[in-house]
Amino acid sequence: MLNNHQIAQIAADVQTPCWIYDAATIRQQIARLRQFDVIRFAQKSCSNTHLLRLMREQGVLVDSVSLGEIERALAAGYDPKQTEHAPIVFTADLLDRATIKRVVELNIPVNCGSPHMLQQLADANPTHPVWLRINPGFGHGHSRKTNTGGEQSKHGIWHTQLVECLQIIQQSGLQLIGLHMHIGSGVDYGHLQQVCEAMIAQVSIVQDVGLDISAISIGGGLSIPYRADEEDVDTDHYFTLWNAARGRLEKMLNHPLTMEIEPGRFLVAQSGILVSELRAQKQVGNNFFALVDAGFNDLVRPAMYGSFHRISVHQPDGVERVGALRPTVVAGPLCESGDVFTQIEGGEVVSQDLPAAEIGDLVVFHDAGAYGASMSSNYNSRPLIPEVLVDGDVVKQIRRRQTVQELIALEDF
Ligand code: LLP
Repeated sequence: MLNNHQIAQIAADVQTPCWIYDAATIRQQIARLRQFDVIRFAQKSCSNTHLLRLMREQGVLVDSVSLGEIERALAAGYDPKQTEHAPIVFTADLLDRATIKRVVELNIPVNCGSPHMLQQLADANPTHPVWLRINPGFGHGHSRKTNTGGEQSKHGIWHTQLVECLQIIQQSGLQLIGLHMHIGSGVDYGHLQQVCEAMIAQVSIVQDVGLDISAISIGGGLSIPYRADEEDVDTDHYFTLWNAARGRLEKMLNHPLTMEIEPGRFLVAQSGILVSELRAQKQVGNNFFALVDAGFNDLVRPAMYGSFHRISVHQPDGVERVGALRPTVVAGPLCESGDVFTQIEGGEVVSQDLPAAEIGDLVVFHDAGAYGASMSSNYNSRPLIPEVLVDGDVVKQIRRRQTVQELIALEDF
């Protein structure tokens, strides 16, 4: 596992801010889900091609949600021609014209989230393989913004519209692979049983109209313990619940069903850290601010959802600072008051108890491997930062720092 000395060495080599991922942690998380027939990585959580390659080498398949993510999967060596389980599935609620062309060209199954999307695909290729993503009418998430079920969510085919979609499939000749449900990010076992029942009810509608499926996808959403007092997901319990639902479905359909799981966060969150440098400290009224060289353009989760990331402070040689703790508000360099890593949903600034630090120390944000680098932006004309993958003793830079010249070059007319 990644150690403090490696962190300091990497920070010295590629400079801060930078992302560091630990390959062993990713492999360990994959191993915890091996009971599922197919693990399909939701690459939106972390889409570096080197990590996708690591996933592929582990037998993990991939979900893509944009043309860019399809090209990333191809670049990482996923071959859409392999047939047993499609290596790449495209999931969305709409299809733009360029993406229709590409999925048809490559015969990439499409997980459809609306009747229009289904019809447009049928018009382009009447026998295309499809999944149907169902919004069962309820959902949940760690934030309202990550709840993907219910009538406030744009995602999925509303459950009462399934019949209409099945008719499009019957009239066109589209090949139905299976039903998919992802009701949000953040597992809650109470909801889980409800999702299982909703899946069974929806599959029975498929059966009633005379169609069949060969697979179900139970989506992603498994959480990780961001805070010390949060419990880790009991993956055995999770599997047992879904496996029981699968058993009932197999009895109903009278044949075996493949069960896919589609995690993002669970596989990569704990593997990644964001390393920044402390550049200034100041007292602002009652708040003590520590200002670091990473901003919400790098890690947006606290600013966007009020998400918590554990923070540790290290001397430049990597040794972790300990000792008396002081309530500290950790903020970045952006020209915006919301550029604070310690805040709660709604934007209220809070503090984390951190040890006394000196300018030049490394400030590390933990559990940032999921929805960290993949949600970064160029706000304030700040270039994207490097990514480094550590695999035991092997340290490899897997993305270099973008340059300001590259940003400006896009406007070079
Ligand atoms: N499948 C579908 C169809 C999804 O929309 C998502 C996430 C996943 C799988 C993977 O969910 P996960 O296992 O990672 O929870 N940016 C937010 C999370 C947005 C999730 C979007 N969809 C965050 O930083 O928490």
